[in-house]
Amino acid sequence: ANKLGSKIEKTFALVKPDVLNKIGDIFELIYSAKLIVTKAKMTTVTWSQAADFYVEHQSKPFFNNLIQFITSGPVVAMELTGDEAMSIWRTLLGPADSAAARQEAPQSLRAKFGTDAIRNVCHGSESLAAAARELEFFFPSTVGHGPGNTAVCEDS
Ligand code: TYD
Repeated sequence: ANKLGSKIEKTFALVKPDVLNKIGDIFELIYSAKLIVTKAKMTTVTWSQAADFYVEHQSKPFFNNLIQFITSGPVVAMELTGDEAMSIWRTLLGPADSAAARQEAPQSLRAKFGTDAIRNVCHGSESLAAAARELEFFFPSTVGHGPGNTAVCEDS
């Protein structure tokens, strides 16, 4: 993987509450795509942490449903490392809407395990800047405000 011209990246992945029983299948896809799970954590996010994490969607009509869903049970947060990890993980996921994924990318995770546009299996960072922010949120390197730092979790 370290051949000349490769771009080793770190990206952030979040397994959503309804598909924790598919974690083995998700690992299998990650493994066959030659990505490595370099950090992982099972945790539960509070409403305010989820709203902070999804702040870019706060004005969207689906925002409340999204936060409701993501706080409804444990999630698995992961750091994935590998050659072009960010775009490879997005490709493995497929389109955000699981129904569209079944049409356009039938081998994708969302096609296989997704329900709709909200219950769409996993999140994947959409840029390296977003990946850095989201990794810091769940795996803070210093004292942070995310679920990665239980000492400052608000509602738990
Ligand atoms: P989006 O950025 O379109 O997709 P992706 O997850 O591939 O980055 O959407 C972000 C999240 O917002 C998506 O994972 C789930 C939620 N969402 C909904 O709940 N309903 C919707 O109609 C859309 C488009 C997104």
